[in-house]
Amino acid sequence: MESLKGKVVLVTGASAGIGEACVRAFAGAGAAVVAAARRRKRLEALAEELRKTGGRVLPLFLDVRDRACVDATLSALSPEWAAVDVLVNNAGLGRGLDKLHEGDPAEWEEMLDTNVKGLLFVTRRVLPGMVARGRGHVINIGSVAGRETYPGGGVYCASKFAVRGLTRALKMDLTGTSVRVTTVDPGMVQTEFSKVRFRGDEARAAAVYKNLEALRPEDVADAVVWAASRPARVDVTELVLMPTAQSGATLVHRGALKGG
Ligand SMILES: NC(=O)c1ccc[n+]([C@@H]2O[C@H](COP(=O)([O-])OP(=O)(O)OC[C@H]3O[C@@H](n4cnc5c(N)ncnc54)[C@H](OP(=O)(O)O)[C@@H]3O)[C@@H](O)[C@H]2O)c1
Repeated sequence: MESLKGKVVLVTGASAGIGEACVRAFAGAGAAVVAAARRRKRLEALAEELRKTGGRVLPLFLDVRDRACVDATLSALSPEWAAVDVLVNNAGLGRGLDKLHEGDPAEWEEMLDTNVKGLLFVTRRVLPGMVARGRGHVINIGSVAGRETYPGGGVYCASKFAVRGLTRALKMDLTGTSVRVTTVDPGMVQTEFSKVRFRGDEARAAAVYKNLEALRPEDVADAVVWAASRPARVDVTELVLMPTAQSGATLVHRGALKGG
């Protein structure tokens, strides 16, 4: 295992769910963490909380969809924070569960702008430094939705298929460098994801996780930290994590598991 102490880690979508869990896990492992998202108060509270236990966390307010904002914000980082060793491209969302012919194009734009273009904008800004320094690791949070489709998930799935394709292409582009590339693809994780997808409809969001034990954000963060802490010769290119109760994008068992 390689130590993460003193490494600089940039996590997008750090104000909730998987991203927040990644910030906690990397800070706990001694890394200096740039925690990026739009919700300022949440990031400040997280940074403040972790500072009390010796964590080094820098809140960074940015909307990954806004290329000018990404460029300006990341290029304004001081040298001690700018030399990012690990980039966790996690910011993302689903919107709605409509059939394609009934879907809202504004929601499609939001998903594609965040999940695909946002990932590209941030990576484009951070990766040249990694290549120049001869070290670095890009970890994308994909999804099982990037491996199989499900009804009503067309554009979200397309965005995550894109993440998987970009991860593979990036690995090829980086051949001959020491920069590693990983996609971590979870099944159902209990976060604010469904609340966001259903625009705050708590009952509909709760129904997604009813009678099954979903992954917890910290389970995904564990996998991310594990991939980041392999010896430099090891590139974990793909990791798929499912709740034990889930066997496919649309196959979940609700209720007690046999032997559980
Ligand atoms: N939950 C699941 O079942 C699941 C399964 C597989 C994959 N994933 C993926 O995991 C990632 C994290 O999702 P989650 O489940 O942790 O959801 P979440 O709890 O809703 O967290 C999403 C995070 O993304 C940030 N974000 C959204 N749009 C952004 C933007 N334009 N700019 C910057 N940050 C933005 C949000 O922060 P702000 O609103 O403060 O900006 C928030 O911190 C996503 O890529 C998602 O697709 C989730």
